[in-house]
Parts: sequence; C-alpha cells; structure tokens
Amino acid sequence: MSAQFPAARPRRLRRTPALRRLVAETRLSPAELVLPVFVKEGISEAQPVASMPGVFQHTRDSLRKAAHEAAEAGVGGLILFGVPAVKDGAGSAADDPDGIVQQALRDLRSDLGDAIVVMTDLCLDEYTDHGHCGVLTASGEIDNDATLERYASIALAQAEAGSAVLGPSGMMDGQVGAIREALDGAGHSDIAIMGYSVKYASAYYGPFREAAECAPRFGDRATHQQDPANADESLREVFLDLDEGADMVMVKPAGAYLDIVRRVRDAVDVPVVAYQVSGEYAMIEAAAEKGWIDRERTIMESLVSIRRAGADIVLTYWATEVARRLA
Ligand code: PBG
Repeated sequence: MSAQFPAARPRRLRRTPALRRLVAETRLSPAELVLPVFVKEGISEAQPVASMPGVFQHTRDSLRKAAHEAAEAGVGGLILFGVPAVKDGAGSAADDPDGIVQQALRDLRSDLGDAIVVMTDLCLDEYTDHGHCGVLTASGEIDNDATLERYASIALAQAEAGSAVLGPSGMMDGQVGAIREALDGAGHSDIAIMGYSVKYASAYYGPFREAAECAPRFGDRATHQQDPANADESLREVFLDLDEGADMVMVKPAGAYLDIVRRVRDAVDVPVVAYQVSGEYAMIEAAAEKGWIDRERTIMESLVSIRRAGADIVLTYWATEVARRLA
C-alpha cells in the first residue's frame, strides 16, 4: 500500500449532486411540516407582521386561502393561533364557542375536511389582558390549578369546533392530564394532544408576541417556562406529559436546542415535534434581506438540521414555501 494514495476517500460520495442525493441520510418532505397561522378578529384585511416578513395576521377569509394553499402544497398540518378583539383577565374569548379560533376551526374543517391536520395552540396569553398564560392570583402570580380549569374548558371548545390535535403551550404543571380528562369525559377521546412538553423561556419568541399580540404586561414567563441552562429537566417534562396522556411531544425553540431534540428522540417512542419559532424565522429573513446570507439555502439547512437532530415533525412559518420547493 502506497502512503501516497489514501484508500478511504469520503469525497468519492460527495462528487456529484446525484451521489449526494443517493446517500443523504435525512430527507425533508412536505408531509412532516406544520404551518403556524394567526387569525385575528375584527379586521377586514390581512395585516402583515412587521418582524416576520411574509407572515400575516389573517382574516377568516384570508386564512381559508392560506390553509387551502398549504394543503395543496402537501403541508402536513396547520396550527391555529387566535387574536381576539376583546381581552380580559380570564381570557374569556378562548373558550367562547363563537371565539375567533372556534369560528376559524369550523371554516377550515368545512373547507378542507381531513385533507390537512388542523391543530390548535391551547393557551391563554393571546386572550388575557395581562398577557400571561394563565389566570392570576390577587397578588399577580399565575394560579397553576385555576388555569388548568380554564385549559380544560378551552380544550372542549376547540374539540367541539373541530380541532384534531390540541397543543397546550402554557407550561402549567398537569396541563396535559387536565385536558385529557376533560376531553375523555366529554366523549372526545379521539382528539390527540401534542404536548409543548419542553418549552424554554426564550428570547426567540419576540416576533411572535407581535404576531399574536401577547407580550406580558408585566414580568416574564420564567416561572413556568424552562431555563435555557437546563437539559435534564426536559426529560422529566416529557415523561410527565406522556404519563398524563400526550400523544406527541414538542421541543421549542428548535435551532438553539438541537441537543434537546436529540435527547428526547432517543428517550421516547412517540413522534417528536420541534418548533422553529418566530425569532429563528426573523433572523434568517433579516440577514437575507441585508444580503448577508443565502435565504433559500439557509432555510433548507435549518430545517434539515432540525430533522437530523431527531425531529419527526417540524413547525415552521416557511412550511408552504418549502413544501412547494420540495414538490
Ligand atoms: C404561547 C406560545 C408562544 C409561542 C407559541 N405559543 C409564546 C410564548 O410562550 O411567549 C411562540 C412561538 C414563536 O415564537 O414562533 N401561546
């Protein structure tokens, strides 16, 4: 054997696009993408979200169109967020049978049936005047167990309006169990729960709070969302949610927490979901707008990386665009 010629040459399989495609370990397809959408009550035209170019607060009609386009592109699911016209301390619009999300759910189910999985975010922050994910005690702290009762009621409203998968995102202890019990007690044992099991107190949610108009008026979410410094408690949260009846578990955000996505993937045998959140979207859009990165390549790389880390399903604001590109 000559020392001049290496026998092993990893470059051989990287030589052409066809070879690279043949040996790719991770593939992206539209079916595993979920598009988060915002629907706002009382507007007559879709409103662009300034910090998320290409993302809109929809009217019921413009949402129907966006949902139709996503379904046509083969996107696997949609997750609905509502922005009500009136907010109050209890977040009453969240479980109003005629609340904006419930209306939009009925629209989408009647337009699309089961052509795309219609899911709902289940939380209170978009509906409360103080912007917190739960109801407050007299001293202004989030009352975990009183909030669970509100979540149970929202679960029923969403299930009755046609949501196929509920995504409790408030990080209250016991939220999956409370929702599961309410659903089962009302004959909705076929409605699935996607736990936002691992949700960090993240600065990457900044642009979302403009889109959903849900920035807390005081304080922050650090008393219920996880500390970015911690990894071990993620598994504890995941197993609690599975014990309480979660059908899928989520890690959120995605890009800065790929180590957590992998740890969860290795620990469970249910679908693992990762949420590429608003700040991840905004950073790539902003840098691309400045001409500092290649927009399309960066988007695709970010998504392949989330899948490579172990996510089966990815929530991304680029779902429709990427699904079209993959087609
Ligand atoms: C809470 C919720 C948030 C997001 C999804 N659900 C905001 C928060 O916890 O403050 C953030 C999603 C994103 O940033 O894209 N209802």
